[in-house]
Amino acid sequence: MVNFKIADESLASKGDEALYVAENKMPVTTGIIRKRFEEEKPLKGVKIAGCLHITKETANLALTLQAGGADVYLCGSNPLSTQDDVAAALVKKGINVFAWHGNTDEEFYWCIRECLKESPNILIDDGADMIITAHKEFPELIENGTIIGCQEETTTGVKRFQAMEKQGKLKVALFPVNDARCKNQFDNELGTGQGIIAAIYGMHVLFAGKVCVICGYGHCSSGMALRARGLGANVIVTEIDPIKALQAKFAGYQVMPIAEALPSADIILTATGCKHVITPTKEMFDKLKEGVILGNLGHFDIENLTQILC
Ligand SMILES: NC(=O)c1ccc[n+]([C@@H]2O[C@H](COP(=O)([O-])OP(=O)(O)OC[C@H]3O[C@@H](n4cnc5c(N)ncnc54)[C@H](O)[C@@H]3O)[C@@H](O)[C@H]2O)c1
Repeated sequence: MVNFKIADESLASKGDEALYVAENKMPVTTGIIRKRFEEEKPLKGVKIAGCLHITKETANLALTLQAGGADVYLCGSNPLSTQDDVAAALVKKGINVFAWHGNTDEEFYWCIRECLKESPNILIDDGADMIITAHKEFPELIENGTIIGCQEETTTGVKRFQAMEKQGKLKVALFPVNDARCKNQFDNELGTGQGIIAAIYGMHVLFAGKVCVICGYGHCSSGMALRARGLGANVIVTEIDPIKALQAKFAGYQVMPIAEALPSADIILTATGCKHVITPTKEMFDKLKEGVILGNLGHFDIENLTQILC
């Protein structure tokens, strides 16, 4: 029996189309590994719970795990990234999904708990919320060895676990897949950089000639800077790490403190993983141009003032 709570089951055929598009662009996950899994069933009897962006790509990962014999339980790692059609298609294919677009904080944790109630053996996280909830509310799964291993997909999640480890509070074996070079050098730098630009493009905003302030020059933010410059924007980088700031300078960007960058900004994008990069203070808010576009790619919505003001 498939367990689920999603927005609308009738969206499944639209979700199938999305899955098909992604399937053809993920030949390793949906071709080589899935074929091997179908033959060898290495995950037979294993329950896997994922707190992930419920997108067409994650959906294909879930189907590959299922092909390997696993029972898969999914919830969304960000209420705004869940694609309801994809969730519906997954349920039809036998994946247990607890996710819908725009769920509240309370519903977000309800979905995580529904997955953990199934006593999963492996957790795949994006942001650390599922694994931390397991530590706090389902400690028996860790103490009695039900959970045999966990995996974390994003920088902010890895940092949260590093902090837990320092305090001796991390009780599970954790694979920080975010730190794999293929992840942070390609997905973070190139994929997410393109993703945020595509989102703003969807608002029919011309980048050419605009002043685009990029906060941070790490993996994701350097990718955003590259893409914005490629579209003809005048890119200004702000960084708190002097070596990263120097890297940005040598890559040809203007680099300056945020207070100096804000007055000319048409678009401001944050991807630092830090709190309150842009704050609703008089010094910052009054400097902004009317109509400036503010975007955040960091994992949590704590980086800039729109979220703080909401
Ligand atoms: N949306 C996505 O698809 C996606 C994908 C990957 C990572 N992320 C998230 O993006 C964020 C950044 O990840 P990353 O891998 O690029 O991290 P990173 O550590 O490589 O880069 C962050 C950079 O921001 C700088 N920084 C910190 N505070 C700053 C401040 N106040 N002002 C200016 N610069 C500052 C740091 O010095 C660092 O160079 C994390 O929250 C991560 O979880 C999101």
